[in-house]
Amino acid sequence: MIHIKSEEEIELLREPCAIVRDCLSFIGERIRAGMTTKEVDALVYDFIKASGAEPSCLGYYGFPASACVSVNEVVVHGIPDGRTIEEGDIVSVDLCAYKNGFHGDGARTFLIGKVSESREKLVRVTEECFFKAIEHLKAGSPLYDIGYEVQRHAESNGFSVIRSYTGHGIGRDMHEDPSVPNFGRKGTGVRLPANTVLCIEPMIAEGGFRVEVLDDGWTAVMRDRKSAAHYENTVLVRENGVEILTL
Ligand code: MF3
Ligand code: CO
Repeated sequence: MIHIKSEEEIELLREPCAIVRDCLSFIGERIRAGMTTKEVDALVYDFIKASGAEPSCLGYYGFPASACVSVNEVVVHGIPDGRTIEEGDIVSVDLCAYKNGFHGDGARTFLIGKVSESREKLVRVTEECFFKAIEHLKAGSPLYDIGYEVQRHAESNGFSVIRSYTGHGIGRDMHEDPSVPNFGRKGTGVRLPANTVLCIEPMIAEGGFRVEVLDDGWTAVMRDRKSAAHYENTVLVRENGVEILTL
């Protein structure tokens, strides 16, 4: 069941979303070759705590960190560890903050120094997929129009969309209904009510769409070990369009 937010709830959830936004820019200014993914996670933890919020990911079904840090062939849910970020890598940082009884959620994929043309295009197209998806989105839009737009843009650029992970509703819980796939048939799915809050998160691959999860139970890796990118914002669906809460 989709939870439609009241205006009071919307005021409360703006703050955790703004913290996610600011934390992602803070990381974007600092992430560089030579850092480990664990050092990135420490920056996220400290930033979220200093903002008076809680890192929602930490301990979520046992997840051991405040951010998912996913390098190159890791598409999502990378566990921060001793892996050193290198020049030419693309690194997705996905984080959630909890404050005022609500969660905010967002992700960016950062380019480390000079990256290959193909990786640069992948990251750019992944971001564009998000903006294509929200361009005409408003109250009454069919849910699967989101995935239709993401898939169309990704595939027309020679990339593929990950099927096994989706976006989601968000609010008092980090994952609420509905599930928001990155593929779909135009004009289908539930019509989104006004004041629905969604995480729209294209996950796009350079090669095939098949993913495998490593033995740690989290790390989602492209089966062909080619690169993947991720871009996510929490958005509020209004009568006339959407408001991006984490940008
Ligand atoms: N931000 C992620 C999402 O979109 C959360 C990943 S799972 C966690 O759903 F364990 F890291 F929290
Ligand atoms: Co999310």
